[in-house]
Amino acid sequence: MTTFDAFDTEPLLPDTLPESPFPILAAWLAEASAKALTPNPNAMTLATVGADGQPSARIVLCKSLDPVAGTVVFHTNFRSRKGHEIEENPSVALVFHWDHFERQARIEGDVERISDAEADAYFATRPWERRLGAWASQQSQPLASRQALFEAATEKILELDIDIAAAVRGDPVDIPRPPYWGGYRVVARRVELWHGSTGRLHDRAVWERELPVVDNAGWRTTRLQP
Ligand SMILES: Cc1cc2nc3c(=O)[nH]c(=O)nc-3n(C[C@H](O)[C@H](O)[C@H](O)COP(=O)(O)O)c2cc1C
Repeated sequence: MTTFDAFDTEPLLPDTLPESPFPILAAWLAEASAKALTPNPNAMTLATVGADGQPSARIVLCKSLDPVAGTVVFHTNFRSRKGHEIEENPSVALVFHWDHFERQARIEGDVERISDAEADAYFATRPWERRLGAWASQQSQPLASRQALFEAATEKILELDIDIAAAVRGDPVDIPRPPYWGGYRVVARRVELWHGSTGRLHDRAVWERELPVVDNAGWRTTRLQP
């Protein structure tokens, strides 16, 4: 049937949906990062559910994405609220929202820890202040005052014997990764890509697969009504 001329019928997702959503997701993230219209284009909402069934959500940064494996990595403190909830229940949800591009990506999946070697390699790339911060902050624990946080940071400088003069000069300083800090890899089970369009006739598609992935089994995909 022909459609009313005023409709913008240009497909926003390909007419024939690709086998995996990840090449599109990677391209959307790359485009948002390249255009840098917001300070953190790699920001995503992470929802976790603890043993009591109460969902909680917060923003974390996507630090890498493996389009072949269908995985997304973020880094955090394993002893934080999210860390405890993930240890109790590894099923999580992620949402990217690129408002300027009218795009949303929703990911649901299971979390596993990245290896110590991978976490060390990423931690070493962080500016010294952030590496110190990972030691000074017992993320999600009560804090008596802001001053107490600076005192904790100062104590850590002494305890870890950090050459602070060198750090301030911009010289490399050795600050190891705290054992309770590292990366989580979300292995996607369900991915939904959403592209906004006029008249709320958005384009929306979902890809699903079983976890664990056996024999490179692929995704089932379908378009969804907006
Ligand atoms: C833009 C932005 C990026 C953030 N990135 C991270 C991150 O990558 N990892 C992290 O642990 N917290 C990050 N945070 C802080 C979290 O949102 C959250 O406050 C913190 O992780 C504690 O959450 P929890 O108590 O639920 O564990 C970020 C916050 C914002 C606003």
